[in-house]
Amino acid sequence: MKVSIENLAKSFGEKDAVNDLTLHVNEGEFLVVLGPSGCGKTTTLRLLAGFERPSSGRIVVGDTTVTDPEHGVFVPPQKRGLGMVFQSYAVWPHMTVFENVAYPLRVRRVPMKQIRLSVQGMLELVGLGEESASPATALSGGQMQRVALARALVADPSVLLLDEPLSNLDLKMRERLRHELKQVQRRTGVTSVYVTHDQSEALELGDKIALMNGGRLEQFGTPDDLWHVPTSRFVADFLGTANIVPVVAPDRLRDKKVVTAEGATIAVHGGEVDADGNGYLVVRPEAARLTSEAPVSSSDGNVWPVNVVERTRVGGVTNSRVEWGGQAVRVSALSDATQAGPGKAYLSLARNDAWVVSR
Ligand SMILES: Nc1ncnc2c1ncn2[C@@H]1O[C@H](COP(=O)(O)OP(=O)(O)O)[C@@H](O)[C@H]1O
Ligand SMILES: [Mg+2]
Repeated sequence: MKVSIENLAKSFGEKDAVNDLTLHVNEGEFLVVLGPSGCGKTTTLRLLAGFERPSSGRIVVGDTTVTDPEHGVFVPPQKRGLGMVFQSYAVWPHMTVFENVAYPLRVRRVPMKQIRLSVQGMLELVGLGEESASPATALSGGQMQRVALARALVADPSVLLLDEPLSNLDLKMRERLRHELKQVQRRTGVTSVYVTHDQSEALELGDKIALMNGGRLEQFGTPDDLWHVPTSRFVADFLGTANIVPVVAPDRLRDKKVVTAEGATIAVHGGEVDADGNGYLVVRPEAARLTSEAPVSSSDGNVWPVNVVERTRVGGVTNSRVEWGGQAVRVSALSDATQAGPGKAYLSLARNDAWVVSR
């Protein structure tokens, strides 16, 4: 079902945990709520689930308003028809895998024959088809989260809510389960809201990402939007790494050009500057190029002689620290591609990879 969060706010005493949050999730969509620790992600999810009451604002699931304090509306959690998966393995240890997953259907007094069918189908979907009779205590962390996922999905929830479900797993398992989770969501088509502080999870899983900062929505869009057309330095820097260089746009970007403090002119793709024409150039380390000779085909005129201060190789990638005018800039490239430096080199940048933000 679709979800609408409108002007949602929640304060704990003096503290505004969530502030004027408006978000829409379409039916079947996977929304990732992303942001640093303490930015209000869990509070948002708990408001959606009905574990917290908002100070103001409204939440609508499908066609049902579930929270609207102004009109005295509050639907309790158990009546919202949601599925939930948390960071901690909320699996009942004294039950088998089957019994854990069957539990929500038992509570609803679904006939046993139907329960067997649904549970077995769900266990197969999450890759636990063979583990049905195992005691839950015999499972690894990854398997326990599969059980939790199956249990959240078995009763056909209106919306699936997940709060950092992979955080307690080791890296390999986290990446594997992340991939499987996406497939399960695709196959069931369940509208999902997934909370994480991990930008790579957000980029892989999200149809849309809501990036929060200090209780507020910083930017909402597709992973591509946030990656390529960030609206602030915070967004550019939170997703991956970004070189951020203060610039001015004397023509307010109408000519798609900005100038650095050292007087270098850069052709840019677009973006925004503030009312005084000040802004910040955003360049991803992997978008800039270093060559020992000046490139023949000029990258929209964006070519400068630079000094490569340092080169470090991390696995198959080489990171270079470059002095460009008075700025320190980071450039990354696959190690097998020819790369210049240390010492004198040329830095080039395609106009399409140069973006400007106003704050
Ligand atoms: N029950 C509570 N009482 C007081 N403050 C809270 C409570 N829950 C959350 N907060 C505060 O609200 C802010 C947002 O918390 P939270 O939503 O848990 O952030 P996140 O999940 O993004 O790390 C934090 O500053 C946190 O300390
Ligand atoms: Mg949290």
